[in-house]
Amino acid sequence: MNIVLFGSPGAGKGTQSALLVERLSMIQISTGDLFRAAIKNKTELGIEAQKFMDKGELVPDGIVIGMVDEVLAKLGKKFFILDGFPRTVAQAQALGKILAQRDMEIGKAVFLEVPKEELLDRLTGRRVCKSCGAVYHVRTKPPKSLGVCDFCGSEVIQRNDDKEDVIATRLKAYEENTFPLRAFYKSEKKYVEVDGNQEAEVVFSAVKNYLK
Ligand code: AP5
Ligand code: MG
Ligand code: ZN
Repeated sequence: MNIVLFGSPGAGKGTQSALLVERLSMIQISTGDLFRAAIKNKTELGIEAQKFMDKGELVPDGIVIGMVDEVLAKLGKKFFILDGFPRTVAQAQALGKILAQRDMEIGKAVFLEVPKEELLDRLTGRRVCKSCGAVYHVRTKPPKSLGVCDFCGSEVIQRNDDKEDVIATRLKAYEENTFPLRAFYKSEKKYVEVDGNQEAEVVFSAVKNYLK
């Protein structure tokens, strides 16, 4: 089944997506990762998105929806995980229409619930691989060799938007725009909730159980 994985910044969407890709051969569509790739390649989309991302604000709906539409058009038959999209009710409505046109649908919208104190620790301590995007944490999941990615040997760095002042804006954008998506997916009877404040493996088992 295709799923939406949503939750606050730092809730573990990327971490869980990586496990779903590795173990269930699903496809991860992370709008954050797509924007970061566009920024790296200095495309028009990247230049536009960066203005918002650096401040911790949401990229405007029209830009995000257009990008996801293009990605979905190229998908094969594998099941996908939408990581970080939709993040507004308008995006969720647009997604429903795009999928319906292609005879596809979302099976479940999985909400990862994590308390705020834990989120701050996760976000300030997160480090990512510059090249393959692997996710680490300085305390709970450091790379085997300091500053070097276990998978590809590239440099492990801090994300631009993982600085404390930007984190505050991201959390506010989440509360105002993304938290209300719970009601939307409840009304669609697709909403399920997982306690994201447990070990990643335990969270994964809970997510997997909903995919049956
Ligand atoms: P995006 O890249 O999606 O960032 P985000 O939503 O803020 O989420 P994060 O990637 O920060 O957190 P995550 O849930 O993936 O957590 P992770 O697994 O890494 O978006 C970035 C920006 O792009 C947005 O601010 C916006 O500007 C723009 N954007 C993207 N999509 C958009 C959209 N749809 N509309 C508009 N704008 C959009 O984990 C975090 C840390 O916690 C890691 O260190 C990890 O090791 C650790 N961790 C994870 N799970 C556990 C666990 N179970 N126990 C302990 N530690 C854990
Ligand atoms: Mg992420
Ligand atoms: Zn890497």
